[in-house]
Amino acid sequence: MTKISPSLLSADFGNLYKAIDMLNSSAASMIHIDIMDGVFVPNISLGFPVMKAVSKRAKLPLDVHMMIVNPHNYINQVRDAGGAIMNVHIEACTHLHRTVQAIKAAGMKAGVTLNPATPIVMLEDIIGDIDLVLLMSVNPGYGGQQFIPSVLPKLTRLRELCASTGYHPMIEIDGGVNLLTGQELVKAGAEVLVAGNYVFSAPDPREAIASLAAL
Ligand code: DX5
Ligand code: ZN
Repeated sequence: MTKISPSLLSADFGNLYKAIDMLNSSAASMIHIDIMDGVFVPNISLGFPVMKAVSKRAKLPLDVHMMIVNPHNYINQVRDAGGAIMNVHIEACTHLHRTVQAIKAAGMKAGVTLNPATPIVMLEDIIGDIDLVLLMSVNPGYGGQQFIPSVLPKLTRLRELCASTGYHPMIEIDGGVNLLTGQELVKAGAEVLVAGNYVFSAPDPREAIASLAAL
């Protein structure tokens, strides 16, 4: 079984409770929340008040993906809005070690996210401190983009780093996930798949989640 973290970004924002209720009764393991600032990425999505409303209704942990500059400044707000995992981009953190410790001290799991062009070697000196690695398989900012296949050999390099260091953070992939790419990703060692467009554009989203979870 693969863990699935459906991305609310592709849900109908006019009817978020319907989407959350569907997820609560699906095979999803968590709910992926994409926070953007229009600076780190060119788009803007939702913020803490909306996330708080989501967390009140959700029965699954919130997997928060911070696509913003200086995510350190928002650690308490993510926690107070119901975040369980806080993923920060390595490209957005000057003092990553400090940020990771602060996320954990706030009572959340700490995830480190890499853009498609950021190499695995950047994780070498932080891998022992983190709970999760989130590899982007699209350039962040939008749902429904095409999968970038270079994440597959990158996953292999991440697993080699885990094996050589003895640290095993959870491995999550975000972007362009569908049944075909999902299958490749799981084969290469992905443990959590984020899926937005594939889930919410499916005629039966619950069934789409179940089919990914069965990979
Ligand atoms: C992209 C976001 C993703 C996005 C994935 O910037 O980080 O979480 O919602 O969407 P799909 O699955 O449609 O590529
Ligand atoms: Zn995301």
